[in-house]
Amino acid sequence: MAHPKITIVGAGNVGASCALWAAARDLGDIVLVDIVDGLAAGKALDLRQAAPIVGFAHGITGTTDYEATAGSDLAIVTAGLARKPGMSRDDLLVKNARVVSGIIGSLVAASPEVVLLIVSNPVDAMTSLAHRVSKLPAERVVGMAGVLDSARMRTFIAEAAGVSPKDVRAYVLGGHGDTMVPLVRHSSIGGVPLAARLSAEQIGAIVERTRGGGAEIVSLLKTGSAFYAPAAAAVTMAQSILRDERRVLPCAAYCDAEYGVGGYFVGVPARLGAGGVMDVLEFDLNADERAAFDSSVAHVKGLVEKLAELGY
Ligand code: LAC
Repeated sequence: MAHPKITIVGAGNVGASCALWAAARDLGDIVLVDIVDGLAAGKALDLRQAAPIVGFAHGITGTTDYEATAGSDLAIVTAGLARKPGMSRDDLLVKNARVVSGIIGSLVAASPEVVLLIVSNPVDAMTSLAHRVSKLPAERVVGMAGVLDSARMRTFIAEAAGVSPKDVRAYVLGGHGDTMVPLVRHSSIGGVPLAARLSAEQIGAIVERTRGGGAEIVSLLKTGSAFYAPAAAAVTMAQSILRDERRVLPCAAYCDAEYGVGGYFVGVPARLGAGGVMDVLEFDLNADERAAFDSSVAHVKGLVEKLAELGY
């Protein structure tokens, strides 16, 4: 795509950080949208003035109006509330369902060819909601979670082992919540299993810290949730789609026969390229991993059913 157009909905911490990472990578023309008058315009103007310093060439505009988003190739949806200390992502379900369902119609009306990349929480349920409201094919709707959760796990492994995080592989599947499934057996340091370098206690602590990775930051910030790494994760997914890189990244993708999920969006490794999710790759899960994955999927299904009961 020579000159992609990227809409980012929500100019809060996550949305603005997405704009920053996307601009720094010169990913395309960026339209930042927010309902708060001036917020998106102000942040876009500020970021645009970094162009001569950093050297990016694409345009960045901010608006309250979806007309300006027309013809977008990809939209990153970050709108909605973030967690406060003591809240789970699921506590945001009702409020964020209202926000996300309100946005999707305007977004897709202006950009019928768009790929939707959902970041708003609880992300698996919000991705499912965006799919239903948008009526887009499932491959054009995807949620950001696994890249972030896996990056947290990679960071903790790298710190414990004293190695570069670049050489650590880790995979976190399932829902983006307390039931997420860090796959220790498939994680490695330079291709070598974790157990060669880390004790069982260290690995157990890394798994727990990964599951609570978002909450740890919420409890430090007190007023909101993480944004640098979530935004970097979303922009990496966007780049793979817009540049047809076909990277295999864990994300909330539609699974029917895949993993026997039966028609829900959950965290699985997906190949992201032109047009969105190209396909889902399947791990050979052992009995324990399978049980943890199934229980995480059951949790996501529960949230989607709750949305249906609420009329979404
Ligand atoms: C987190 C939010 C993005 O995990 O859910 O920090």
